[in-house]
Amino acid sequence: MNEERTSIHGQWSSKFAFILAATGCAVGLGNIWKFPYITGENGGGAFVIIYLICIVLMGLPVMIAEVLLGRRGKHSPINSMRYIAQEESASRWWQLIGWSGVVAGFIILSYYSVIAGWSLAYIPIMAEGTFNVVQSLSSPEAVKQFAQNNFATLISNPITLIGWHTAFMAVTIIMVSGGVKGGLERAVQFMMPALFVLLLVLLGYAISTGDYFIKGVEFLFRVDFEALFYPNCTPDSCEFSGRGVLVAMGQAFFTLSLGMGSIMVYGAYLSQKTSIAKTTAVVVAADTMIAILAGLIIFPIVFSNQLAPGAGPGLVFQTLPIAFGQMPWGTFFGTLFFILLAFAAWSSSISIAEPVVSWLVEATSLSRRVLCIFVGFLAWFIGLITVFSFNIWSEVKPLSNFTMFENSTLFDLLDFLTVNIMLPLGGLAMAIFVAWVMRSRSVTQELKTTESSVLYRLWLFALRFITPLGVGLVFLNAIGVFS
Ligand code: PHE
Repeated sequence: MNEERTSIHGQWSSKFAFILAATGCAVGLGNIWKFPYITGENGGGAFVIIYLICIVLMGLPVMIAEVLLGRRGKHSPINSMRYIAQEESASRWWQLIGWSGVVAGFIILSYYSVIAGWSLAYIPIMAEGTFNVVQSLSSPEAVKQFAQNNFATLISNPITLIGWHTAFMAVTIIMVSGGVKGGLERAVQFMMPALFVLLLVLLGYAISTGDYFIKGVEFLFRVDFEALFYPNCTPDSCEFSGRGVLVAMGQAFFTLSLGMGSIMVYGAYLSQKTSIAKTTAVVVAADTMIAILAGLIIFPIVFSNQLAPGAGPGLVFQTLPIAFGQMPWGTFFGTLFFILLAFAAWSSSISIAEPVVSWLVEATSLSRRVLCIFVGFLAWFIGLITVFSFNIWSEVKPLSNFTMFENSTLFDLLDFLTVNIMLPLGGLAMAIFVAWVMRSRSVTQELKTTESSVLYRLWLFALRFITPLGVGLVFLNAIGVFS
């Protein structure tokens, strides 16, 4: 029966096209903007190790499960889950996975577009050569001030932010309107390789900072659990916090686009012939490599300019422009970099919108274009919350009574709710459904393997035990059970 189901939305033209699109979906702001700044905020090496462990033990297995669900269902996440649950004689409630993805999708898309808008804003800043003056500034302090002021000026102006946010969202909508082959696939074909090459150029620059490069490497890889578990130590008080681990796990889900249906819907457009496990492993490897690469580029620049690793969401936008200001051809490379970063963000944002859009296409008789405009507008509107979190509402901290959220703005809370709670729970639900609820015959058929295969058993073990245990422990820890 599964063989007869076809996707009404179209199909990727080849296995390679799927790898490219899924990599485009995974690689985005999460790798280049978020990974460095949360690593900086959580003390470096120990955080990175936990993150990598989460990627291998939970990210990869859950991603295989999510692609599998998509390809078997061949519809939007909501309908795929409905069909599969029916076939497996499971409860209708499993559809909730799809619904939670729709909610998470709207919220993530809303702030993703605002942050990606920052990248757009830096294109003209770099093109005008604004940062070339750092060469003539005498002290590192002055350079740092210059970069910080530049960023502060940008985010303090809601009108500018809304302008870039609107531009980013508009292009996202146009791309998603194009459908699978016309829009999604074409967009990522040459942008991803170009971004990778440019990152290598930047790595060359980072290596040229010599001692600072070593310092950056040490920061990323020297495992210091105290920095992770006791982030706010003063000489006389040290308070344990498990939040860093929760953040690392959330990041593993976010960076691989798991738990909300993006990867599921991309799986729905995958040909029945392609091997899910192999293609997925390539995507995970590429995503992880790019995040580490971003860290290796950014931290040497942080240290050589005496910036603080824990500078927060502005980290990339304060460090890289300085590097471009100092390097030969910096105006050119800087402009190109922010263009490519915007494209990496687009290839992700289209995948954030796709689960919702595909469901609306199935559920209504309206055209894909009209539905895209509707989804985009709604997400754009919710995005205003994020815009204002950085300026007129920067002091609005609704949960400041809880130590954990003392300094959290509305943006921080939306980010936390989706990335650290909804995505891990969504991923957990998918893991449980595939590993405990589905018949193993269906699963092995989809993976083209047998129950005796060692890799299959390892994968099943990870889904059955490690993911639930991991997500469970991290949550208990976060709500303070172990402190
Ligand atoms: N993985 C994307 C990134 O790293 C973000 C994303 C999250 C995309 C969830 C789709 C779904 O930027």
